[in-house]
Amino acid sequence: MNLILLGPPGAGKGTQAKRLEERFGLVQVSTGDMLRAEVRAGTEVGRQAKAIMESGALVPDGIIIAMLAARVAQPDAAGGFILDGFPRTVPQAEALDGMLAEKGLSLDHVIELQVDDAALVRRISGRFTCAGCGEGYHDEFKRPRAEGVCDVCGKGEFTRRADDNAETVGARLDAYHRQTAPLLPYYAAQGKLRAVDGMADMQDVAEGLNRILTQPA
Ligand code: AP5
Repeated sequence: MNLILLGPPGAGKGTQAKRLEERFGLVQVSTGDMLRAEVRAGTEVGRQAKAIMESGALVPDGIIIAMLAARVAQPDAAGGFILDGFPRTVPQAEALDGMLAEKGLSLDHVIELQVDDAALVRRISGRFTCAGCGEGYHDEFKRPRAEGVCDVCGKGEFTRRADDNAETVGARLDAYHRQTAPLLPYYAAQGKLRAVDGMADMQDVAEGLNRILTQPA
């Protein structure tokens, strides 16, 4: 099964992709995580992407498409993948269609997580991540069970993303509405688009996704 989680920054794509990985044995492919790894590693791609990401704009399609093509060609993606943060422009979606057709694959589902802009700002500004294992948390919605200690790996160091600040969030939302929202009619025209209420709590969102993914075609 190959699927896309579509939605604005902070909609819960990463949170739900992790749950779907476990439940359906799929691989999460997050272009944002891949770019952040390139920045940390100091590669040429990371060098080109860093300032763009910090401004809240989108990284050029050519860089992203090449990176995604290499990732989905890895053996672990052969059993199915969840695209989180890709595609984000119509040219990226067209490149994905071409890439999948070449491999004799197709998309099974494109699911939009629908969340109001005001809720997104609140979600993004409260987000933090365990520096040890990458588990995601939130100041309000998901605190570690023991204060300052990761529930998963037990480490006590957390990080916040450089682009999770009020000004950059505005630019990221603007990029979403201008460049990514046109993907909704693109996938609706292919008859693949479904929507889940992303304003619900995390468990209800997960159940909404499970219903779509387990219903007969
Ligand atoms: P990327 O890393 O993809 O960020 P994003 O799309 O802005 O998405 P986020 O990771 O911020 O949000 P999410 O939907 O995963 O939400 P999460 O689950 O964490 O991209 C970053 C940058 O990289 C871009 O700006 C761009 O520059 C570049 N880039 C990446 N891909 C690109 C591409 N394809 N083309 C060009 N450029 C690209 O949830 C958010 C918070 O809310 C968490 O704290 C979580 O705990 C909480 N939460 C989640 N669900 C709920 C819920 N139901 N109720 C309450 N709280 C919730």
